[in-house]
Amino acid sequence: MKRILVTGGAGYIGSHTCVELINAGHEVLIYDNFSNSSPTAINRIQQITGKPVKYTQGDILDQKLLEETIRTNECNMVIHFAGLKSVGESVQQPITYYENNVVGTLTLLKSMMSCNIHNLVFSSSATVYGIPEFLPLTEEHPLSTTNPYGRSKLIVEDILRDFYNTSPDWSITILRYFNPVGAHSSGLIGEDPKGTPNNLMPYVAQVAIGKLKELTVFGNDYETADGTGVRDYIHVTDLAQGHLKAIEQIGAPQCLEINLGTGIGYSVIDVINAFKRASNKEIPFRFAPRRKGDVATCFADPKFAKDTLGWEAKLGMEEMCNDHWLWQNNNPQGYNLA
Ligand code: NAD
Ligand code: WQD
Repeated sequence: MKRILVTGGAGYIGSHTCVELINAGHEVLIYDNFSNSSPTAINRIQQITGKPVKYTQGDILDQKLLEETIRTNECNMVIHFAGLKSVGESVQQPITYYENNVVGTLTLLKSMMSCNIHNLVFSSSATVYGIPEFLPLTEEHPLSTTNPYGRSKLIVEDILRDFYNTSPDWSITILRYFNPVGAHSSGLIGEDPKGTPNNLMPYVAQVAIGKLKELTVFGNDYETADGTGVRDYIHVTDLAQGHLKAIEQIGAPQCLEINLGTGIGYSVIDVINAFKRASNKEIPFRFAPRRKGDVATCFADPKFAKDTLGWEAKLGMEEMCNDHWLWQNNNPQGYNLA
């Protein structure tokens, strides 16, 4: 049994991961400032798992509270989800992004050092691969980024690699997620975007339920089968199970980067059609020019995850859409007014 500090554990990926960790018999302590989440998510985790879940409302920039929380709860490892994640917002507010994502991680590292815990799983992103030079994307693909959000992830990755060189007794796992979608099969937890969603599936879901009028498809002139962008969508429960495997594997000195993706690419049109089938609703859409910064195609080589963690994604596009729709339909206003 591990005692895990989960920063950002009330958020989308964090809440699903807590469910898998608790169901596997681990103890979690959620540390979240609720800047992009709700304590209701924690009640729902309790409802799903049937276990009480401890949490501290706090900021990762608050070193004193972090240390107090780690010590009081005798945590022996950390999964670090907390951070800001909107690419567009990061262009408008770069300082806020660097402060939360980079300074926040440095503060967490200092707290861990002071509390003498050396096991860390960090949420990185396929965004660190920049414009793909080859596909599928292996962990050896060159790294580059095009926006402050991506840069904040790459800077933290570099910090962790530098830090590991001086602290080889640490065990650090950097997980690079592709495109997380879907929700828990209970329909009790899921992604709850504030305002209009930026990402495809939450946008499609809100069109299906009638909150938004139509989807704008950014670009139909890419060099892909139907001209629309292709991505590696991964069910959030598969992603959560990847974290469970990472936690169970961690401990030996290492600093590893691991892709968490399915290895399969779906176009925007594929997603619209799959979501139509899942929801039995019309998804009106219109084509518009490409979105700045988007790439044509991006998908993972998931082999290293299988070799190192014994993990591979099990759920397909149908489950992703069915579960996302169940969550959207049961919680049309997300957590707040549900
Ligand atoms: P999310 O916004 O749902 O969850 C992040 C959580 O961190 C939220 O609960 C938020 O309240 C909390 N938080 C933010 N800043 C904090 C701070 N300073 N102190 C304490 N808590 C803070 O996002 P998510 O989709 O669950 O993403 C989790 C992590 O995975 C993030 O680091 C994100 O960058 C990364 N990631 C996400 C995606 C994606 O598409 N969702 C893809 C790749 C990587
Ligand atoms: C997917 C496809 C769009 C919205 C982003 C971040 C990345 C990572 C995951 C955190 C693309 C198209 C989208 C819409 C559309 N996050 N689209 N209409 O851009 O692959 O990745 O989220 O780390 O860093 O950049 O995901 O869901 O925004 O877009 O046509 O309204 O859907 O052009 O082809 P993306 P997405």
